[in-house]
Amino acid sequence: MSIVEERARAMARRYNLNEIRIPLMERIDLYQRSTGETSDIVSKQMYMVKRSEEGGAADEMILRPEGTPGVVRAYIEAGLDRSDPYQRYFYSGPMLRYERPQKGRYRQFNQFGVEIFGRADAACDAELMIMIDDLMHDLALAVRFEINSLGHDRPDCRPRFRAALLEYGRAHFAELCDDCHQRLERNPLRLLDCKIDAERVAQSAPKSLDYLCDECRKHFEAVQEFLAGANVPFEVKPSLVRGLDYYTRTAFEVVSAAVGSQSAVAAGGRYDGLVKELGGAAIAGTGFAIGVERTALAMQAGDFKAGPDAALVGLGEQANLAAMIMAHELRGRGLRVEVLPPDRRLKAALTIASRMNATYAVIIGEDELARGTVQVRDLKNSTQREIARDAVVGELAAAVASCA
Ligand code: HAM
Repeated sequence: MSIVEERARAMARRYNLNEIRIPLMERIDLYQRSTGETSDIVSKQMYMVKRSEEGGAADEMILRPEGTPGVVRAYIEAGLDRSDPYQRYFYSGPMLRYERPQKGRYRQFNQFGVEIFGRADAACDAELMIMIDDLMHDLALAVRFEINSLGHDRPDCRPRFRAALLEYGRAHFAELCDDCHQRLERNPLRLLDCKIDAERVAQSAPKSLDYLCDECRKHFEAVQEFLAGANVPFEVKPSLVRGLDYYTRTAFEVVSAAVGSQSAVAAGGRYDGLVKELGGAAIAGTGFAIGVERTALAMQAGDFKAGPDAALVGLGEQANLAAMIMAHELRGRGLRVEVLPPDRRLKAALTIASRMNATYAVIIGEDELARGTVQVRDLKNSTQREIARDAVVGELAAAVASCA
């Protein structure tokens, strides 16, 4: 398990999310009806799987390019939308998209995703971003949240924005890319991803925030209040629409300066119409997915140092036995511990402990054995103390817990 996934699972536990395992293969129409036929994912990036026997269209499946539709399908199939709608899930695993590979963009990559059903309130949108912020802190990664509201499908809200974009697209047709030409009438929101000059379009095209109904505006203001209250660094980006069709109201991307052009390490938002669209009851949904490899790439440039809490060194046969016993006791207190090979000199052992980014080196020599003590060296501050053997396990467990 990668360190990103390990920490993400720990985060999921803190937020009381339950694991859901979704299949790698799904029916193509599930994605056509959710991610959307005009999205790049469905129109260009899906891998089809066909039985080796000659089969009709019904035998064609796709390899999942993202997790959200599969989670929604499983939720509806289990009847939870009617029997027990409030559910909090996480999932982790590979996704496949036909991409032009480059640093941070792969054809097979891993996502750690979260989907919450049955919560229409703004606090839930904010909680998702607070989760990501919490995880990124744990991974020592500085990120920024770009957020927007896309409104919802009631007549006084997104349809007006859609109509304004359509009008803009028709008026600027000649300046738009081939993709825009093809999808303008069906999905004018995708104009904001124009391959020719997305930035210019983003600046001059109508903005969703100017078309929000009162309810959606209040919802978006509340999301921002929660984020500010939780000290999550965000900026409102009015041109953010996301390339997936199912979003309503809040949409966001999480950006790290450390991964170059593929800077989004996570993304998500609200999808209040999706459960119904896929045949379930009218249940609200929200979620996000973290790109595991992109997050790991960003961490290479960051300050994250993964290492054991303690590296133990027993200098001599008896001392090594004492080190093994102490390691067992420390592990019993939940610490991450390694006993270094016994045949090294003290200096070489301390070099190994530093290289593996251990927080403490615990040194047991013949003298310490005779005195019933150990030397505890804090490798970050280069300070050392002699501690009674009986006290050391409790002291180290308390010191590590206070830094966690
Ligand atoms: P997405 O923006 O398509 O959203 O992907 C989420 C994250 O997956 C991206 O921010 C990125 O870090 C990573 N990612 C996407 N494509 C690649 C790739 N080709 N190579 C490496 N990493 C990649 C979704 O997938 C939605 N299902 C998120 C969501 C969940 N929305 C609501 N719930």
